[in-house]
Amino acid sequence: MGNDSVVLGHARALLADGPGAAVVAGDMRRHGAILGSPDLRGLIDLSLPVCVILASVLHFATAPEADAAVAAFTGAVAPGSYLICSAGTSTGTSPALITRLQAIYEGTTMVTGRPEAEIADYFDGLGSGATRADRRMGLAA
Ligand SMILES: C[S@@+](CC[C@H](N)C(=O)[O-])C[C@H]1O[C@@H](n2cnc3c(N)ncnc32)[C@H](O)[C@@H]1O
Repeated sequence: MGNDSVVLGHARALLADGPGAAVVAGDMRRHGAILGSPDLRGLIDLSLPVCVILASVLHFATAPEADAAVAAFTGAVAPGSYLICSAGTSTGTSPALITRLQAIYEGTTMVTGRPEAEIADYFDGLGSGATRADRRMGLAA
């Protein structure tokens, strides 16, 4: 799933002949359309455990939008599923670096830097069987 036409074009070319993969054009903030996509539904049986991976994308949305996306994707999957996410965080990150990143992406998308605890909260309430395994990667300023 992605919202960049160049990325989607390359993904379609790379995956065109491969089974077990689909490319869904969409904005994670419009999660209903992604979850309802025939391509996704034709490939993934959401009644069975799956792994939701939100890699390096959540910081491209406001906090409420990112929270709603995580809630929608984790709410749509079966018990026993996994959640993996990486997101830029303000915790331990130089404000100057965040400002620089926001300047780089200006005009294309927002960049939010949220406290690490807010990202960690995504793993609360996933069910009594949820196990948290995380690792923090620091970015130099
Ligand atoms: C830093 S790249 C990460 C790509 C890939 N997930 C990875 O880990 O290698 C961020 C990607 O998220 C996409 N993206 C940004 N905002 C998005 C949104 N609201 N919905 C869906 N994709 C988005 C960008 O177009 C870009 O392809």
